[in-house]
Amino acid sequence: MQETKFSTSEWAKVDLTQIPSVITPPPGPKSREYHARCTAHFKGLSSQVKLFPVAFESGEGCVLTDVDGNKYLDFSSGIYVAGLGHCHPKVSEAVAKYANKLMNCHDFTTPIKTALVEKLDAVLPGDLKGFQFYDSGTTAVEAGLRVMRAATGHQEMISCFYDFHGKTYGSVSLGQIRSSAYGPARAPGFHMVPRPDAYRPMWLKDDGAIDTDKYIEFYDTYIDRATVHDVAGFVLEPIQGWGGTIMPPDDFFPKLRRYCDEKHILLMDDEVLAGWGRTGKWLCMEHWGVVPDVVTIGKGFGNGFPVTCVAVREPYMESFQSISASSSYGGNPMACAAALASAEVIEEENLLARATHLGEIALKRMERMKAEHPIVGDVRAKGCLMGIELVKDRATKEPFDEAGKLVYQNAFRKGLAWIPAGHLLRMSPPIVMDDEALFKGLDLIDEAIGETEKELC
Ligand SMILES: Cc1ncc(COP(=O)(O)O)c(C=O)c1O
Repeated sequence: MQETKFSTSEWAKVDLTQIPSVITPPPGPKSREYHARCTAHFKGLSSQVKLFPVAFESGEGCVLTDVDGNKYLDFSSGIYVAGLGHCHPKVSEAVAKYANKLMNCHDFTTPIKTALVEKLDAVLPGDLKGFQFYDSGTTAVEAGLRVMRAATGHQEMISCFYDFHGKTYGSVSLGQIRSSAYGPARAPGFHMVPRPDAYRPMWLKDDGAIDTDKYIEFYDTYIDRATVHDVAGFVLEPIQGWGGTIMPPDDFFPKLRRYCDEKHILLMDDEVLAGWGRTGKWLCMEHWGVVPDVVTIGKGFGNGFPVTCVAVREPYMESFQSISASSSYGGNPMACAAALASAEVIEEENLLARATHLGEIALKRMERMKAEHPIVGDVRAKGCLMGIELVKDRATKEPFDEAGKLVYQNAFRKGLAWIPAGHLLRMSPPIVMDDEALFKGLDLIDEAIGETEKELC
């Protein structure tokens, strides 16, 4: 019975007799040549590219092909983006249709934008009824900040250690500033506080459970003493993605929602990475039954086409009018077509259930890895948002960055395209993946961890 419920479309099914297929040890000669030519001019690379400089040619479903003809099983979705698989035919056709019909008409109304806002209204929880579209996660986050300031008349923002919200000034000011290149400091009025992390808790109760009340008490003290009592919003990710797939305790968001209501502070939920089906719900925050005041959606929203969204609850909709919300590309017809098609695919292919199922089976498999490999400190999964944390010592939990790099490279060489960073093995397989392909990818990671342990321990 479950077979039908979770069945994968033939298009996305990976033929494991053919994939992965490493015919030339990667990065192969053509990859190296393109990489050398490209990086003669293009210098700002992520750590993933620096550590494995492969050049990609094409993608289809859960498979990426490099310029040397190697075929990789995809555990990255680009970078948490192509959740429905690369070049899903329905999404690609929708974009192509508007690429031939109407590419841009500023923020004038179009039938396709009308259909998209009505779809959002239908699938999002509660009274999230006001929408505005942008072309990157960080511009959506900036608009979210502006709308909260307009709605409340207040200025200050509270955000959390190790959350990530993008790379423009407001978004950077919400996150961990690592480089003075972003400016001399975070923008005035931005404050950061810790959030509960079950693996590295700050406050525990006598029974060993994480003490979420202590975190809320701390926020109250902090807001009282360290702000000028002009707080507009509390901004956070539902699950920390960049920070390492860190899950909140189940009682955290309901308590935070209550606290924000009591203090008349808006709650902004940055779902750019975790939203749009990746964790098995349209919004990850739905796992805890909480409706935020402001939500940002990105990455998987257009399955690769750059389109993002700010959604607000009904009482704050009019505030969009006072923030000069339009932009050159926000809500262009191709973007709206991509996002609408992605919503339809999620519904038609029952992908919320599939993502949930994949997360459950992955977690069991990763728990076996934890039992077998001493360097695996913790494993986490909610839907297709997955993570493994490597440590030098389970007692001290000291991050094992060197191991992370080797595991990343070892698994990539075997044909797994993925996105670890340092000691955090981050995984974001497309939510259309079939069970066997998921297990294959996890087997490759398991083997790579084993090889790394032999090399380093
Ligand atoms: C939670 C979150 N918010 C915002 C962003 C910024 O998105 P973009 O890179 O599209 O600007 C990211 C990017 O990784 C993210 O993970």
